[in-house]
Amino acid sequence: MDEKNYSLKDLVNDITQIVEETELDSERVERTERYVSKFIQSENPIPIEALQSDKNQYARHSLYRDPQDRFEILALIWEPGQRTGLHDHDGTWGVEGIVTGRMRIHNYLQMESYPEDNKVKLSYSGTMNLNALSTGELLPPADCHILQPEGNDTVVTIHVYGKQLRHFKVFKSTEEDNIYTVHDHPVGYTTESLITI
Ligand SMILES: [Fe+2]
Repeated sequence: MDEKNYSLKDLVNDITQIVEETELDSERVERTERYVSKFIQSENPIPIEALQSDKNQYARHSLYRDPQDRFEILALIWEPGQRTGLHDHDGTWGVEGIVTGRMRIHNYLQMESYPEDNKVKLSYSGTMNLNALSTGELLPPADCHILQPEGNDTVVTIHVYGKQLRHFKVFKSTEEDNIYTVHDHPVGYTTESLITI
Protein backbone atom coordinates (compact mmCIF):
# COMPACT_ATOMS: atom_id res chain seq x y z
CA MET A 1 0.00 0.00 0.00
CA ASP A 2 1.15 3.53 -0.74
CA GLU A 3 2.07 4.96 2.67
CA LYS A 4 0.50 8.31 1.79
CA ASN A 5 -2.88 6.68 1.21
CA TYR A 6 -3.29 5.03 4.61
CA SER A 7 -6.85 6.10 5.41
CA LEU A 8 -9.08 6.34 8.46
CA LYS A 9 -10.74 3.13 7.30
CA ASP A 10 -7.35 1.40 7.18
CA LEU A 11 -6.62 2.63 10.70
CA VAL A 12 -9.98 1.31 11.95
CA ASN A 13 -9.34 -2.07 10.34
CA ASP A 14 -5.86 -2.35 11.82
CA ILE A 15 -6.88 -1.34 15.36
CA THR A 16 -9.85 -3.74 15.16
CA GLN A 17 -7.42 -6.51 14.34
CA ILE A 18 -5.19 -5.53 17.28
CA VAL A 19 -8.03 -5.59 19.83
CA GLU A 20 -9.15 -8.94 18.45
CA GLU A 21 -5.65 -10.40 18.75
CA THR A 22 -4.68 -9.22 22.23
CA GLU A 23 -6.40 -8.20 25.45
CA LEU A 24 -3.19 -6.81 26.93
CA ASP A 25 -3.43 -3.03 27.16
CA SER A 26 0.35 -2.62 26.92
CA GLU A 27 0.37 -4.50 23.65
CA ARG A 28 -2.69 -2.67 22.30
CA VAL A 29 -0.99 0.68 23.01
CA GLU A 30 2.31 -0.28 21.47
CA ARG A 31 0.81 -1.73 18.32
CA THR A 32 -1.79 1.03 17.91
CA GLU A 33 0.90 3.71 18.16
CA ARG A 34 2.63 2.32 15.06
CA TYR A 35 -0.56 2.64 13.02
CA VAL A 36 -1.38 6.10 14.37
CA SER A 37 2.09 7.14 13.27
CA LYS A 38 1.42 5.75 9.80
CA PHE A 39 -1.98 7.47 9.68
CA ILE A 40 -0.69 10.94 10.52
CA GLN A 41 1.98 10.65 7.85
CA SER A 42 -0.59 10.02 5.15
CA GLU A 43 -1.95 12.89 3.08
CA ASN A 44 -4.94 14.78 4.54
CA PRO A 45 -5.80 11.98 6.99
CA ILE A 46 -8.59 13.82 8.84
CA PRO A 47 -11.94 14.30 7.05
CA ILE A 48 -12.53 17.97 6.32
CA GLU A 49 -15.74 18.03 8.42
CA ALA A 50 -13.65 17.14 11.48
CA LEU A 51 -11.26 20.08 11.10
CA GLN A 52 -13.67 22.69 12.45
CA SER A 53 -12.56 24.46 15.58
CA ASP A 54 -14.80 25.80 18.34
CA LYS A 55 -14.19 29.28 19.68
CA ASN A 56 -15.12 28.30 23.25
CA GLN A 57 -12.96 25.22 23.79
CA TYR A 58 -10.91 22.66 21.86
CA ALA A 59 -13.20 20.81 19.42
CA ARG A 60 -13.71 17.09 19.94
CA HIS A 61 -14.79 15.29 16.76
CA SER A 62 -15.67 11.60 16.94
CA LEU A 63 -14.24 9.80 13.89
CA TYR A 64 -15.13 6.21 14.80
CA ARG A 65 -16.46 4.10 17.66
CA ASP A 66 -15.93 0.36 17.78
CA PRO A 67 -19.38 -1.33 17.99
CA GLN A 68 -18.05 -3.53 20.82
CA ASP A 69 -16.61 -0.49 22.64
CA ARG A 70 -13.02 -1.72 22.49
CA PHE A 71 -11.73 1.62 21.15
CA GLU A 72 -12.72 4.99 19.71
CA ILE A 73 -10.92 7.46 17.45
CA LEU A 74 -11.21 11.23 17.79
CA ALA A 75 -9.80 14.31 16.08
CA LEU A 76 -9.21 17.28 18.38
CA ILE A 77 -8.80 20.80 17.02
CA TRP A 78 -7.01 23.31 19.20
CA GLU A 79 -6.88 27.07 18.80
CA PRO A 80 -4.12 28.96 20.64
CA GLY A 81 -4.82 29.07 24.38
CA GLN A 82 -7.30 26.14 24.38
CA ARG A 83 -5.52 23.96 26.90
CA THR A 84 -6.98 21.15 29.03
CA GLY A 85 -6.98 20.92 32.79
CA LEU A 86 -4.99 18.15 34.47
CA HIS A 87 -7.02 15.01 33.69
CA ASP A 88 -7.04 11.23 33.47
CA HIS A 89 -8.75 8.91 30.93
CA ASP A 90 -11.11 6.90 33.12
CA GLY A 91 -8.69 4.00 33.47
CA THR A 92 -8.22 3.27 29.80
CA TRP A 93 -5.19 3.21 27.50
CA GLY A 94 -4.65 5.74 24.73
CA VAL A 95 -2.48 6.87 21.85
CA GLU A 96 -2.15 10.44 20.60
CA GLY A 97 -0.65 11.77 17.39
CA ILE A 98 0.03 15.32 16.22
CA VAL A 99 -1.26 15.85 12.69
CA THR A 100 -0.34 19.53 12.33
CA GLY A 101 1.16 22.04 14.74
CA ARG A 102 2.91 21.54 18.05
CA MET A 103 1.70 20.50 21.51
CA ARG A 104 3.22 20.72 24.96
CA ILE A 105 2.28 17.87 27.29
CA HIS A 106 2.78 17.90 31.06
CA ASN A 107 2.70 14.33 32.38
CA TYR A 108 1.76 13.00 35.82
CA LEU A 109 1.72 9.54 37.41
CA GLN A 110 -1.13 8.38 39.66
CA MET A 111 0.50 7.43 42.97
CA GLU A 112 -2.31 7.02 45.53
CA SER A 113 -6.06 7.42 45.69
CA TYR A 114 -7.97 8.66 48.75
CA PRO A 115 -11.60 8.13 47.74
CA GLU A 116 -12.95 8.96 51.20
CA ASP A 117 -11.52 12.49 50.82
CA ASN A 118 -12.06 12.68 47.06
CA LYS A 119 -8.35 13.28 46.59
CA VAL A 120 -5.42 11.69 44.79
CA LYS A 121 -1.66 11.87 44.98
CA LEU A 122 -0.02 12.56 41.63
CA SER A 123 3.63 12.84 40.78
CA TYR A 124 4.80 15.18 38.02
CA SER A 125 6.87 13.13 35.57
CA GLY A 126 7.99 15.67 32.99
CA THR A 127 6.99 17.89 30.09
CA MET A 128 7.30 16.91 26.44
CA ASN A 129 7.10 19.09 23.37
CA LEU A 130 5.58 17.14 20.52
CA ASN A 131 5.98 18.29 16.94
CA ALA A 132 3.81 17.39 13.98
CA LEU A 133 3.94 13.69 13.04
CA SER A 134 4.98 12.57 16.53
CA THR A 135 2.98 10.29 18.82
CA GLY A 136 2.56 9.58 22.53
CA GLU A 137 1.07 6.87 24.75
CA LEU A 138 -1.20 6.71 27.80
CA LEU A 139 -1.18 3.64 30.01
CA PRO A 140 -2.39 3.79 33.64
CA PRO A 141 -0.91 4.76 36.08
CA ALA A 142 0.94 6.98 33.54
CA ASP A 143 -2.28 8.44 32.17
CA CYS A 144 -2.67 11.93 33.62
CA HIS A 145 -1.64 15.03 31.76
CA ILE A 146 -2.28 18.60 30.66
CA LEU A 147 -2.29 19.27 26.91
CA GLN A 148 -1.67 22.71 25.49
CA PRO A 149 -1.25 23.86 21.91
CA GLU A 150 1.98 25.71 21.18
CA GLY A 151 2.47 28.69 18.88
CA ASN A 152 -0.12 30.72 17.01
CA ASP A 153 -1.45 28.09 14.62
CA THR A 154 -4.42 25.77 14.88
CA VAL A 155 -3.26 22.34 16.06
CA VAL A 156 -4.85 19.09 14.86
CA THR A 157 -4.39 15.92 16.92
CA ILE A 158 -5.75 12.38 16.71
CA HIS A 159 -6.57 10.31 19.80
CA VAL A 160 -7.35 6.63 20.17
CA TYR A 161 -8.82 5.48 23.50
CA GLY A 162 -9.46 1.91 24.67
CA LYS A 163 -13.19 2.58 25.07
CA GLN A 164 -15.67 5.35 24.47
CA LEU A 165 -14.51 8.07 26.83
CA ARG A 166 -17.67 9.81 28.06
CA HIS A 167 -16.18 11.31 31.17
CA PHE A 168 -12.85 11.65 32.88
CA LYS A 169 -11.49 13.09 36.09
CA VAL A 170 -10.05 16.56 36.38
CA PHE A 171 -7.57 17.19 39.19
CA LYS A 172 -7.15 20.49 40.99
CA SER A 173 -4.13 21.30 43.14
CA THR A 174 -4.46 21.81 46.89
CA GLU A 175 -2.17 23.45 49.40
CA GLU A 176 -0.56 20.06 50.05
CA ASP A 177 2.29 19.04 47.73
CA ASN A 178 1.22 16.49 45.05
CA ILE A 179 -2.32 16.21 46.50
CA TYR A 180 -5.20 17.07 44.17
CA THR A 181 -8.99 17.13 44.53
CA VAL A 182 -10.93 14.96 42.05
CA HIS A 183 -13.77 16.27 39.86
CA ASP A 184 -15.82 14.21 37.43
CA HIS A 185 -15.94 15.82 33.99
CA PRO A 186 -18.46 14.60 31.39
CA VAL A 187 -17.37 15.07 27.76
CA GLY A 188 -19.35 15.11 24.54
CA TYR A 189 -18.57 15.36 20.86
CA THR A 190 -18.49 18.40 18.60
CA THR A 191 -19.48 16.10 15.71
CA GLU A 192 -20.42 12.42 15.78
CA SER A 193 -18.79 9.43 14.07
CA LEU A 194 -17.98 10.17 10.47
CA ILE A 195 -17.38 6.71 9.11
CA THR A 196 -19.10 3.40 9.57
CA ILE A 197 -17.59 0.12 8.52
FE1 LIG B 1 -5.89 13.47 27.61
